[in-house]
Amino acid sequence: MPDFPAGFRWGVSTSAYQIEGATTVDGRGPSIWDTFAREPGRIVDGTTGDEACDHHHRYAEDTALLAGLGVSAYRFSISWPRIQPTGAGPALTAGLDFYDRLVDGLLAAGVDPVATLFHWDLPQALEDAGGWLNRDTAARFAEYADVTAARLGDRVKLWITLNEPFIHMSLGHGMGVHAPGRVLLFDAFPVAHHQLLGHGLAVAALRARTASPVAIANNYSPVRPAGDGDADRAAAAAYDALHNRLFTDPLLGLGYPDAPGVDPTVVRDGDLDVIAAPIDVLGVNYYNPTGIRAPEEGSPLPFEIVPLDGYPRTAFDWPVAPDGLRELLLQLRDRYGDALPEIQVTESGCAYDDAPDAQGRVNDPERIAYLDGHVRAVHEAIGAGVPVTGYFVWSLLDNWEWAEGFTKRFGLVHVDYPTQRRTPKSSYAWFRDLVRR
Ligand code: FCB
Repeated sequence: MPDFPAGFRWGVSTSAYQIEGATTVDGRGPSIWDTFAREPGRIVDGTTGDEACDHHHRYAEDTALLAGLGVSAYRFSISWPRIQPTGAGPALTAGLDFYDRLVDGLLAAGVDPVATLFHWDLPQALEDAGGWLNRDTAARFAEYADVTAARLGDRVKLWITLNEPFIHMSLGHGMGVHAPGRVLLFDAFPVAHHQLLGHGLAVAALRARTASPVAIANNYSPVRPAGDGDADRAAAAAYDALHNRLFTDPLLGLGYPDAPGVDPTVVRDGDLDVIAAPIDVLGVNYYNPTGIRAPEEGSPLPFEIVPLDGYPRTAFDWPVAPDGLRELLLQLRDRYGDALPEIQVTESGCAYDDAPDAQGRVNDPERIAYLDGHVRAVHEAIGAGVPVTGYFVWSLLDNWEWAEGFTKRFGLVHVDYPTQRRTPKSSYAWFRDLVRR
């Protein structure tokens, strides 16, 4: 492995609902994922995040795993309904206490706390009032950012407002495969705009409370047209605008791109200025490129997603394409030029069906190969002049993978859910050695 610049941030990522469990302690309110997971047929194995990895009780053990890994940063998310059970009003002291203990434990272990404020677990009471379709949710989000930063302030070394607003819009509100399960197709655009508005308002709230840098974590996927024809290219451009530009152009001051569903009547005077508040870091989450072809006659979508041939595949059936990460980093640089802030890869990882062998060891050579390829792709992008300053593996632990329940294992650490026993995989040792170098 080639050398990375001194001070490069190596980390791992998790999110609250996927690992914490303890969904009814200390006054926590219900979130849209508590509700959604209980609806029949939503989650492939019929499970919920009620227990997940029991991290709420085992955070000290998990902090020790981080210390053993030697990472310089840990990206976790804060559960909004632990802080404000109904998404409004004063912060619950007991809810904040948990993150306070976590943050102090991380600092004592020499690990920078990186906190995401919204990783999809909206308080159910806000959903009942329209959720992100309701403009007021943006104001509520800024209030939540304020009360949270008032307590955790500068001890958090990087604040991330939203995780993957594109996925929350498209899977949660467009296609209905994630909470809250709405099927609005392109009528989901207000969810994009109100998340971005909430982000901008939260940036201002955070700036008033902390000197730490502020970021957003977007999901990106380089688009590969199925053929050279005009129809496939037009379809690919439409998908690219939706996935890769809808949430980045306005953040970087360019306003909304010409993407399917964009509805200017939702955007009020001044909103675009709020959204374009300068950020310090752009978080990039990358898993795979997307194949696109022109839609069938009569399709409600202006594109069709098609499998990409010629790549190895993960247990999620996602193509393993490290070149896509280099490509998207270069594309961001080419697209946004001087407007592009420093980048940190805030998620990168893969699911495989890892299981302990007869000796209890978990060998996951595919994950090592996956990470090796993606870390090298980052190095190449840095060499080509893209300002990448960090790389976070998704994920520290095997965890509750949304609609896939417990069936997809992304961790550097294996979790046996019935006993909650943690077993570092061979990829954990590999990543530890990389970080140490
Ligand atoms: C990302 C999510 C994360 C996890 C990984 C596999 O889209 O941010 O919570 O589900 O995918």
